[in-house]
Amino acid sequence: NSNKMWQGRLGGSSAEEVDVFNSSISFDYVLYEEDITGSIAHARMLGKQQIISKEDEHSIVEGLQGILMDIKNGDLVIDPSAEDIHMFIEAELTNRIGNAGKKLHTGRSRNDQVALDLRMYTKKQVDEIKTQLLQFEKVILDKAQDHIHTIMPGYTHLQIAQPVTFAHHILAYGQMISRDINRLDEAVEHTDVMPLGNGALAGTTYPFDRQFVADQLGFEKVTANSLDGVSDRDFVMDTVYALSMIMMHLSRLSEEIIVWSSQEFCFIELDDAFATGSSIMPQKKNPDVAELVRGKTGRAYSNLQTLLTMMKGLPLAYNKDMQEDKEALFDSIQTVKIALSAMIPMIETMEVKADRMREAASKGFINATDCADYLTKKGVPFREAYGVIGSLVQTCIKKAITLEEVPLETYQSLHSLFEEDIYEAINLDNCVIKRDIEGGPSPKAVIQQMKQLKRQLNTE
Ligand code: ARG
Repeated sequence: NSNKMWQGRLGGSSAEEVDVFNSSISFDYVLYEEDITGSIAHARMLGKQQIISKEDEHSIVEGLQGILMDIKNGDLVIDPSAEDIHMFIEAELTNRIGNAGKKLHTGRSRNDQVALDLRMYTKKQVDEIKTQLLQFEKVILDKAQDHIHTIMPGYTHLQIAQPVTFAHHILAYGQMISRDINRLDEAVEHTDVMPLGNGALAGTTYPFDRQFVADQLGFEKVTANSLDGVSDRDFVMDTVYALSMIMMHLSRLSEEIIVWSSQEFCFIELDDAFATGSSIMPQKKNPDVAELVRGKTGRAYSNLQTLLTMMKGLPLAYNKDMQEDKEALFDSIQTVKIALSAMIPMIETMEVKADRMREAASKGFINATDCADYLTKKGVPFREAYGVIGSLVQTCIKKAITLEEVPLETYQSLHSLFEEDIYEAINLDNCVIKRDIEGGPSPKAVIQQMKQLKRQLNTE
């Protein structure tokens, strides 16, 4: 193909293998709308600044609008043999409107053009993901609302530790989602910067109005250094990092869903619509969605690694290596979107088995700390009380009884400060209600926590 728009000084035509290797259209075609919208803003600026005539401006804008409409309608098929989406659209424009089309690229390079398109695309996608996260937060809050009094075991090392409620447990994920939303906002701050006017690397000699382009496209500000502006992909990595964190959180929740839906735990049951069967074992109900979310988390992490490694050795300014930014970014975006879209209704529809949770919480000496605290509150140094209860638990394990089943005489033989009210002190409900500290699992504290999360939902 000897008729390249970048033919310039090159005499011979590029090898077919090179064309295939160079081409990015198989993945960057998704940028077509951003590319066209960005070009329209650029053409309007060229017209306003009298760099091109009003007639040319209008025919470029109309031509580009027609192309956009035709791609959307399916009347124009994006040519998979084109080099990239930018070249495809510019060539199509010139096909349609002739000479005026050749003026669109005045003072612009694909280097600032692709940076613009990618920033626009990232902003839009992140906004959609943010909407999903806000919806997830709402689902979590609704679930929590129903289970403020549902006692369940809290774990450390996956060993029963102290009692909490299901509301408190699920709201821990609410906190993670809340931070995920903030992290996306921070990534957007670094994305929301308009690079046109940087040209290939050293700006342009034309009297561009960069702010005018930024305003048309809804950008907060313009880039401050042309070399940085064409070769900065920090915003891609900020975004992909934020997306990795979302996947990490979804993966942790998935792991719990998988454990909780096992026969041994049986803390929840997934709705049939969000579980799968086995082709051989008729009794099976598998948490495939949660497993797949956990599995896909690896892709998100590897995309971040790909980008960091791709950028680390690049001299200023643009280098073709940077074409590799797109698949990693697009894959992370798609992965998070599809994971959230399956995960949100799965959590919304799952059945929480409050009875089973409570039963599990009443085993494992979950109130042993409260038993020790009982003595401590009567003046026994905590370490001493800890020792007394430690040996009591040993005895209980041998006799296969719970702390509630230990007779008062036994308590009193261990320490003279034990009285009848010890049973009240180690009662499961009381153990939760008394953990009334800010951030704690008591119903009162949990309601406070929910209020804070709701405030964020309402201000976003
Ligand atoms: N397809 C290229 C990319 O994605 C567009 C920019 C190409 N610029 C260049 N000078 N080769 O990065």
